[in-house]
Parts: sequence; structure tokens; C-alpha cells
Amino acid sequence: MPSKAFRIAHALRDGMKGATSGIRAGQGEPVILVHGVGMAAEIWSPQIEALSRRYDVVAYDMLGHGGSTLPPDDPRLSDYADQLLAVMDRLEIQQAHVIGHSMGALVVLEFALARPERVRSVAALNAVYGRTPEQRAAVQSRAASLETGNTPGAAEATIGRWFGDPVSGRLAEAAGKTRHFLHSVDQTGYARTYGVFASADDAHRGRLQSLRAPALFMTGEDDPNSTPAMSRAMAEAAPDARCDIVAGERHMMALTAPDEINRRLIAFLADSAAKPVDPKSLRRALGAFATGVTVVSTLQSDGTPRGFTANSFTSVSLDPPLVLVCIAKAASGYGIFSEAVRFSISVLAEGQRETSGLFASKAPDKFERSAWRRSVGGNPIIEGAAAWFDCRTHSVVDAGDHAVLIGRVMDFGDTVTNPLGYCRGAYVTFSLPQAALSAAGSRTRVGAILENDDGILFLAGPDGRIDLPEGISLEPDTDPASLNGMLRRLGISAQLGFLFAVFEDPRNGAGAVSVYYRGSLKAPPPASQGLRMIPFAGIPWNALRDDAIRSMLHRYVRERSEDTFGIYIGDAERGSVQALAKQAR
Ligand SMILES: Cc1cc2nc3c(=O)[nH]c(=O)nc-3n(C[C@H](O)[C@H](O)[C@H](O)COP(=O)(O)O)c2cc1C
Repeated sequence: MPSKAFRIAHALRDGMKGATSGIRAGQGEPVILVHGVGMAAEIWSPQIEALSRRYDVVAYDMLGHGGSTLPPDDPRLSDYADQLLAVMDRLEIQQAHVIGHSMGALVVLEFALARPERVRSVAALNAVYGRTPEQRAAVQSRAASLETGNTPGAAEATIGRWFGDPVSGRLAEAAGKTRHFLHSVDQTGYARTYGVFASADDAHRGRLQSLRAPALFMTGEDDPNSTPAMSRAMAEAAPDARCDIVAGERHMMALTAPDEINRRLIAFLADSAAKPVDPKSLRRALGAFATGVTVVSTLQSDGTPRGFTANSFTSVSLDPPLVLVCIAKAASGYGIFSEAVRFSISVLAEGQRETSGLFASKAPDKFERSAWRRSVGGNPIIEGAAAWFDCRTHSVVDAGDHAVLIGRVMDFGDTVTNPLGYCRGAYVTFSLPQAALSAAGSRTRVGAILENDDGILFLAGPDGRIDLPEGISLEPDTDPASLNGMLRRLGISAQLGFLFAVFEDPRNGAGAVSVYYRGSLKAPPPASQGLRMIPFAGIPWNALRDDAIRSMLHRYVRERSEDTFGIYIGDAERGSVQALAKQAR
């Protein structure tokens, strides 16, 4: 990705003026790279190249380094964290993944603790933490000699610590680049920053517990000063952290093993950008994928049949013919199905909603209560199924809280019967809209069961009775007597979904039909006009004006609580759930 250089002016502590130089490349979520003492933004070149393919990458020169101005003459770690804040503000970056190396790691940790709301994740590479007295004495004596300016051979000593002495051939190029930065760094800026680095290993002791962002602590197995033990201790202290120790690497691992380090950084960034999954919302989103409904069956070792309802059925391959279905490890039949050598899949017909409910239950007598026969291979096939597949188990793949049963189709059959559908937690049948259409023109009432997290929407009359919203037709919304027109007049914003019920309704005389939709409220209803949201558990059944509606709603609430919906076809008295196909024909 082509990179762009930037230079921004900003304030330092106590009203001093400062400026920061840097480079920016790529698009995506912002990732900010903060280098170590003695280096400059370009030391991150391998990371900028790799990360900018997916991220908006910013690398800047730390105060006292590269093209940036000096820090105050009594610098503190917070001055460097403030520089990062200024860079983000000036580049209009609200939140970023921050990655730092060595001194840069201390800066990004300081920043993540001080400004948690600006940090998406934090990666501390080759960071120091709780030095031993010997390590501390050594680093402080280096800091002191840098301050005096009397440092002959200091750069070579650093190269020796970071790359080994002598530098091996594999590391010669990286050592050469590092040497270049050490020689060109501003000596005052270097000395001031080194002074902070020499004592900042204690800056985060007792504070990492409050680190809010996901954190990565990564160092080289052979880094003698930013040791694996330090990274492990930091990861243990932080609440949401992992520790990566890179085998055979030392202090400049981002330069000496760029592919390995980039791979680990990208994996960490991807994980920390992943939103925590709320199972309820995930289920809701998955429910938008409309499926059929099947009963998966097999014979147990004692020859008795076993089965469960599944909508995870999918065709996999035509040659060889393979299909799959997923079974929850929590299902009581899991052990049997994951060991079974054969199983069958019956695709339920639209009149078999009750069969679906039965096989989704824990009933011990599922097969006694169903009509079924044996396939040639001996597996149970549900009578009246829209299609069936008799399978030999091809493979069983472990997948999270489910296992995938892949079956090789040995025999199959199908009929012209409409299949039962399932979408958004509800059964759907393909002929119900037809039934509703044929009802149109007769004396029809069109109503809606509209829900949100608070319950179902009712209209409350002055007499204390309650009704569902209803009109003489669905549309137009310009006619206040239609359902949509009435909702509009009342200021209700709703989305109608599938048809829930079509039934004869004596309220409007013989032959009159009521058609009810399921739907959801897009916004809470206005607080006036007798509109009431009533929770499922709190419906005052006796206040409902109408028996037919009461009976339909009873079924709605029951099936809603079972997360299984059916299609109601019948009349006000019988109120039974029947096969709609019979009605539609
Ligand atoms: C429409 C619908 C689809 C279902 N799909 C699956 C599925 O794909 N996999 C699964 O393991 N359970 C599925 N279930 C739940 C099982 O049918 C249910 O857990 C059943 O009790 C399992 O039977 P068992 O515990 O007696 O083995 C589904 C339930 C319904 C109502």
C-alpha cells in the first residue's frame, strides 16, 4: 500500500510546542505503531507493509526521534502517551489498535490505561516489567552514560544486546538497519527517552488489572532484557490478555522475523476486533435463513427407533450423493446418532407441524404417536413426508456444541406435497398466503399480532377491554379503516411478517374470515391513544373482547414460549391446528 508522510503540530506539557512526523498507509480500522528507544517510524516497514493491506496503519516518530520534536527536558512516560493522543486527535482517529515495541510498548500500555475509550486493543512487544535489581542497575548505568554524552561504542553494545555478539549472518541485514537508526537518532532525544525507559518497567505494576482492552504481550524467547517471564507476568496481571513467546527470537523480532510477527499480530487484531457474540441475537439473525424441517431417525442397537427434529439439513454433494445435518451435543440422542452407521432424513410436509413439535420434544413415545415405516435399509421414514433420504453415515465432524452428521444417500423418494418451512423461529406454510388470498373479497378482517421485547401491542378501550389492531383490509395506508391505515393513524411503525392464522370468524356473520399476521414493532408505540404493550406472561385474558382472538392468542403465546410457531386454521369454536393444505385445496 502506498504510504503518505504527515507532520502535525501539537502542544506538549506546560504549553510547550511540539510536532510529530509519521507515515500512514492503508484503509480499515486504525492501527498505530509506536517504536522503541533509538529507532524511528520506518523501523516498522515490514509491519506497515503487511498490516496496511487490511488496516489504516499509522507509524510515527516518538518524541526525540526521527522528525519529531524533543520531549520536555524532564520527560515522563505520560508525555509519550500524550503524544499518541495528539496524533490520534489530529488524524481524527477515535479509537485504534495500538502496538508498541520496547519503550513503545510502555507508551501504548500507559495510553491504554489512561485513555481506555480510545483503545480497541493493545499489543506490547518486547516490553519490560519488574526488572531484577541487576537488570535495573545495568539499564540505569546506560541511561546515565547517555546523559553525559560520553558513549563511545554505545550503539555497538546495543547491537550486541539485541542481535548477539557477534551478529550471525541471518541477522546481519536487520542489525545494519538498526545500526543506521541508532547512529542517526538525535542524541539528546535518545538520552531523555532512555532515561524514562530505564525506570518505566515499574510504571504499570499494580495497574494492569484495570487494563480494559484485549491485550497481547509478545516477546522473543531469547530476549535477555524484555524476558518471556516479564511478558507472562503482564499477561497474568491483565484481565483479557494473551502471551506469545516467539521461539529463537530476540529483542528486534519484528525486524528479524517479520512474517511470523505479522501473522501473530494479524491473528490478535482479528480476534480483538471480533464482537462478543450474544447468542440470542445470533439466533435471531440465523433465523432469517428460511429452511425446511426434517425428522432425523435411526435404529438403536435394541432395534427401537430414535428421532429428532432438525432444520440444519443441507445437501452437500451430488457425486457422491452426500447430505448433512447437525446434532446438538446436548441432545439426548447425541451419543446414538454420532455412533450410528445409518440414519434417515424425512423432510416434513406442511401438514406435519405437530410431528415436528413431537420430535423436537423429549417424549419417550415419539414413534408410537407417529405413522412411520422402515426403509429398505431399516431406518424409520415418517409417513406423509414430502421427501426422504436413507443414508449410510459417511463421516461425523466435531463442530463446537454440535456435530455434523454427513450421510451418503443410499435411497430416497419424494412427493408433490408442499414442505413445511421454518423461518425466524416460526413455521411457515406455502399455501397459507393462498388461503388468505381466497378469503379476500369475502367479509374479511385483517389484524396483526405485533410484538417487541416488551410484549404484544393491544388497543385498550374506555371500557377496559383490549383488542389487537385490526382493519377491514390490509391496505391502503391512506384508508384509516385498513390495518395499515389504522397503524399509520396511530403513529405505529411496524413490520408485518408471515401470516399466522386464517380462520372463520362469526363476529362478522357467516362466511366471514379473519386473517392475522405476525409482526414486529420498529419503534415503541406512542405513549397515548390507548396503546398498551403487554408482556406475554401478563395478558389479561378476560379483558380480551373476542373469543376467537383469545384462542388464537393463547396458541401464539404458547408456541412463542416453545419457540415453535404453527399455522392456525380452523374456526372460532374448534380452534384446532390443522393441515392448511387440506383447507387450501
Ligand atoms: C424447527 C426445529 C429445528 C430443530 N433443528 C435442530 C437441529 O438441526 N439440530 C439439533 O440438534 N436440534 C434441533 N432441534 C431441537 C431438537 O429437535 C430437540 O432438541 C430434540 O429434543 C432433540 O431430541 P432428543 O433430545 O430426544 O435427542 C430443532 C427443533 C425445532 C423445533
